[in-house]
Amino acid sequence: PTRRRLLGTAGATGLVLGAAGAAVGYVSAPAQATPLSSIGAGQVPFHVKHQPGITEGLQARGHLVAFDLAAGAGRKEAVALLRRWSETARRLMAGEAAPNDDTDVARDAGPSSLTITFGFGNSFFARTGLEKQRPVALDPLPDFSSDHLDKARSNGDLWVQIGANDALVAFHGLRAIQKDAGSAAKVRWQMNGFNRTPGATAHPMTARNLMGQMDGTRNPKPTESDFDQRIFVPASSKKDPAWMANGSYAVVRRIRMLLDDWEKLSLTAQEQVVGRRKANGAPLSGGDETTAMDLEKTDANGDLVVPLNAHARITRPDQNGGAAMLRRPFSYHDGIDVDGTPDAGLLFVCWQADPLRGFVTVQRKLDRGDALSKYIRHEASGLFAVPGGAAQGEYVGQALLE
Ligand code: HEM
Repeated sequence: PTRRRLLGTAGATGLVLGAAGAAVGYVSAPAQATPLSSIGAGQVPFHVKHQPGITEGLQARGHLVAFDLAAGAGRKEAVALLRRWSETARRLMAGEAAPNDDTDVARDAGPSSLTITFGFGNSFFARTGLEKQRPVALDPLPDFSSDHLDKARSNGDLWVQIGANDALVAFHGLRAIQKDAGSAAKVRWQMNGFNRTPGATAHPMTARNLMGQMDGTRNPKPTESDFDQRIFVPASSKKDPAWMANGSYAVVRRIRMLLDDWEKLSLTAQEQVVGRRKANGAPLSGGDETTAMDLEKTDANGDLVVPLNAHARITRPDQNGGAAMLRRPFSYHDGIDVDGTPDAGLLFVCWQADPLRGFVTVQRKLDRGDALSKYIRHEASGLFAVPGGAAQGEYVGQALLE
């Protein structure tokens, strides 16, 4: 049964009873599901060409979790696990209960735009005897001089990204995915993130990160003619194994923001670091958020208005041989260190057809020092092959595993 149908039988009494079980004056509701808000009703299809959770808008809540196959578990266990995970994802994304032992955490709520996305890490292929199927694109990312990576919180055999516009719905998804892993796989690392709740702003606008910047302005847009080519592996790729058709490669970086240092900068200095206005995301060369950046414009002193090391100048595809990626991050806040430093920043997740041409090209350049580098620290890293979406009756990764 769907969670909403369950609610239909139990919801009315829930509405009329107070803490002590006494009636609290609400008019008794008819025994039918409470209409969901538009946020709750948001539903993303599971059986699609590209896995969900890539091109959808940012969700208010996210969990990233990596698993390693258990000792002794191989291809057979991986097949069974991906089958279980796919069925759970399909059901939860439709607002239904989990197949086994639903925890009731998302009871009363709609799917809230839940997406569950699955990927394979480099180490998965040796564990399952599928080395021949390992994409070259999964070769380990190069070391960058500014890396401060915690290996225990990096990579992993399997990766799952869970996003939803409701925190309980997202947690419910995480818990179901972990329980499905059973004895086949163990959690290697897990991270939690968030974005603005849809509806919190008066009109749709680009998200802000924890530095206060509008972040995502120049992301490739699905309406652009080269979008698919940049983000997804084509069905006839020569470089990638056939099972990656319509898939994408996700680079995950836990990037701490050195907020105490950043917040000491004046507004003008902060804007010079990025090359865009903080209030509205407009380039420093003028106009509004959508105005093209004038890279050549100089001020009265003859200095470039958008500094040479500004983050938004350095990362541009036209400064990087066309390198482009779809950035779809979550902010994170994991509390405050004993010395008062916030453990906060960006769970940077970017999607591309080729991580060497996308993330690596741009990060190599940022690693040589853009203006933002002083204010951030890369603390964990992952690279995952995310296959195309599962067709009706199929599970994610079936073309690889069978
Ligand atoms: C653009 C912030 C890390 C790649 C931007 C913009 C901001 C920003 C404010 C300008 C608005 C926009 O177009 O979205 C940050 C912060 C980071 C970070 C706070 C770390 C905490 C990275 C990393 C990469 C990257 C690690 C890739 C290696 C890009 C790209 C653009 C961009 C490709 C768009 C360039 C364009 O197409 O014009 N970033 N960024 N960023 N950033 Fe970052």
